[in-house]
Amino acid sequence: MGASYQPLDPQDLKPSGKNHAHFLSNPVISWLCCGFISLALLHLLIFAPSGTQWPAFSPLLQYIDDTYNFVSSEPGGNESCDYSVGKWVRSPGYARRYNATECNVKESHDCIRNGRPDTGYLDWRWQPTGCPLPAFNARTFLRAMRGKHVAFIGDSMARNQAQSLVCLLSAAFRSRLVYRDEDAQHSYNNWRYAFPLHDVKVSYYWNPFIVKSTGKSEDENIQESHVHLDTPGDRWGADADTIDVTVLSASHWLLNGAIYHNGSEVVGAHNAPPELNYTGLGYAWPLKMAYRTAVERLSSGVRPRTVVLATFSPAHFEGRPSDSPTACTKMEPYKEGEKEVDWISKELRDIVYEEAVAAKARSVAGESATRIELLDVTKVAVMRPDGHPSVYMHRDPFEHGVPERMYSDCLHFCLPGPVDTFNEILLQILRKRR
Ligand SMILES: *[C@@H]1O[C@H](CO)[C@@H](O)[C@H](O)[C@H]1NC(C)=O
Ligand SMILES: *[C@@H]1O[C@H](CO)[C@@H](O)[C@H](O)[C@H]1NC(C)=O
Ligand SMILES: *[C@@H]1O[C@H](CO)[C@@H](O)[C@H](O)[C@H]1NC(C)=O
Ligand SMILES: *[C@@H]1O[C@H](CO)[C@@H](O)[C@H](O)[C@H]1NC(C)=O
Repeated sequence: MGASYQPLDPQDLKPSGKNHAHFLSNPVISWLCCGFISLALLHLLIFAPSGTQWPAFSPLLQYIDDTYNFVSSEPGGNESCDYSVGKWVRSPGYARRYNATECNVKESHDCIRNGRPDTGYLDWRWQPTGCPLPAFNARTFLRAMRGKHVAFIGDSMARNQAQSLVCLLSAAFRSRLVYRDEDAQHSYNNWRYAFPLHDVKVSYYWNPFIVKSTGKSEDENIQESHVHLDTPGDRWGADADTIDVTVLSASHWLLNGAIYHNGSEVVGAHNAPPELNYTGLGYAWPLKMAYRTAVERLSSGVRPRTVVLATFSPAHFEGRPSDSPTACTKMEPYKEGEKEVDWISKELRDIVYEEAVAAKARSVAGESATRIELLDVTKVAVMRPDGHPSVYMHRDPFEHGVPERMYSDCLHFCLPGPVDTFNEILLQILRKRR
């Protein structure tokens, strides 16, 4: 297995990292710094847990993080940068940021554990056109989110991104699992992590239609989903007043279809059996309504809040059957010009884009304290057919030879993998001034 684990941001380990270059150049503060380091080393000697080398650094890192906080000034994100347009450039080892087994990701996304032999998919970084995208920095994220509750609401791509964020953060800072659904079948569906040093919470709410749904979304054996376009999901709806920053991400299930309700009335359906005579709604309108209901609920109150609308991240089956062992076996990103964003991905991306623009306009007109942002990951994702678990969603899939039929995951991304870049962009968006 070629992939060894490397910490994301080695300078995080050292107080002399480049973020603090200005700090060390000042002799007076340098003396203070020496003092802090001595104290931190003392702290380390007293509190260092036995075991691996990496956790041993954590107390030092966390101590320094806290004591440094008042002197550090990091510039905000680039207001005028469009992170959604750019290209993947080779950068060996760039995406080897954490060991997914240690941050409890869904087994089927832990490609390295599952024995994926090629590691070239970890050698790429996203280069937006015209501006740099800084590498994810856990400290910067946690400082920017100090005291806040960050929630991901949506489908399994929202979960993929939420798990990536927890991994990126817990590779550098102590984390604690606050809760996780007991039921083994659904244990990845609702959970929360806390990052005590910065008092940050990260939650994930399984709501593949964003709004309230019953049926298939709760039990795979049921054929249809019933979706209540006017009602927040039960779990996140109950917590909505505690959430400061929300990332909404859902398109796939709307594309598949459901029976849609408003109050006690069925308004129509998409992909329902024709003999039921429902009005055909398509997927665009329900998708808009779902985002709209969520944004409204998550922006109520006077507290400043942020709602981020994430765009569609498509699968790469590309016409091949999903139970073919070769459904997605590309080992490199698409080259510039090799792959266009297909029309359905573009349409879904545009719907969310337009809904974000409309929500922003409503927020400004209503003088709401809520900030609306767009996390446009469609192109970022489209160019990475190589980043999916493929057959390595199963552990050691070829242990007993190559089977004729084996399900491939060509939708979610390996962790670590391209989805970490979604969080890299999210961090820059959250750091922008309003
Ligand atoms: C990841 O962590 C697990 C559990 O601690 C360990 O068994 C495994 O060897 C690690 N993998 C890598 C690639 O370091
Ligand atoms: C910010 O983004 C703009 C537009 O892409 C670019 O021209 C500028 O150089 C960027 N500034 C920095 C500091 O990266
Ligand atoms: C639901 O019905 C109410 C009342 O008629 C209406 O104002 C609202 O726009 C409808 N919402 C949806 C999503 O159809
Ligand atoms: C659907 O419409 C057809 C023709 O009008 C009717 O015969 C049938 O009973 C309807 N089905 C339902 C479930 O309402």
